[in-house]
Amino acid sequence: MTGVSQPNGPAGQDSRLLLDVRNLEIDLAAHGRVAPILSGVSFTIARGSITGLFGESGCGKTTLAQSLFRLLPPRFRVRGSVRLAGRELLSLAERPLEAVRGASMALVFQDPLLALNPLLRAGDQVAEVLRAHRRPSTAADVAALLELAGLGPAALRIARAWPHQLSGGERQRVAIAQALACHPPLIVADEPFSALDTTLVAALTALFRRLRDELGASFLLISHSPGVLARTADQVLVMERGRIVESGPPRQVFHHPAHPYTAALLRDVPRLPLPGEGPPHAA
Ligand SMILES: Nc1ncnc2c1ncn2[C@@H]1O[C@H](COP(=O)(O)OP(=O)(O)OP(=O)(O)O)[C@@H](O)[C@H]1O
Ligand SMILES: [Mg+2]
Repeated sequence: MTGVSQPNGPAGQDSRLLLDVRNLEIDLAAHGRVAPILSGVSFTIARGSITGLFGESGCGKTTLAQSLFRLLPPRFRVRGSVRLAGRELLSLAERPLEAVRGASMALVFQDPLLALNPLLRAGDQVAEVLRAHRRPSTAADVAALLELAGLGPAALRIARAWPHQLSGGERQRVAIAQALACHPPLIVADEPFSALDTTLVAALTALFRRLRDELGASFLLISHSPGVLARTADQVLVMERGRIVESGPPRQVFHHPAHPYTAALLRDVPRLPLPGEGPPHAA
């Protein structure tokens, strides 16, 4: 299953292993100083599994997500190893990297306005992801993806809308539709539900679980909500100031936290659902 810093075994190949992040170190050079943002981050994601990333604001979750796609500007110095299905991404040339982005590994940005082009209608942005990877991109394909991402009967109207005409929650779902477009084996979703109400969060976490179970898709799901992660994730990584301080199944991490930081973060959360428990009362 999933694990943290587990060796590959002598053969070095494990067909269940999808993402292998080793000793990721990220420093930020600014104003003549270098500040550490991530330190010694190592974890693995198995095929067909959901990994939650949990930690307080500013601990480095978005930096980690963007580094996997090599989207950080040059003032961020990135060292270590990121292997997707055995292939090192940190040293990959730009052309093959572009083929990976969106098709093998997709990112749902924390701020969907950053992901959406203000000059393109929502449907065209989804179609563009498909076209970039030479997939069919008819209006029906796009509407089906928007519907899958929880836009339901509004999908056709949303497809024709400009990003500024959409609500924050609608933009989040357009960004999710873009990520799902090419059925990538790995989706990294950075706070994808923060603008959504609880019934939509429940529907989309159910969708993620279905894609995991039926298609073997994997997710790195970044969330401030232990409730969302407890219902969705197979393993949870807890990050404190750029380090992973604890990891394990949500039942263990959230109900019997080993690290005082995790316990402190959970102190204000009323009662956490156990995995498989019904719809959320508070996300
Ligand atoms: N462009 C930037 N310039 C300067 N510092 C940055 C930049 N981006 C991130 N940082 C710093 O890096 C650290 C990690 O930020 P990051 O955005 O990864 O946190 P996060 O865990 O995603 O937080 P949140 O939960 O609020 O989204 C923070 O201290 C932040 O101030
Ligand atoms: Mg963030």
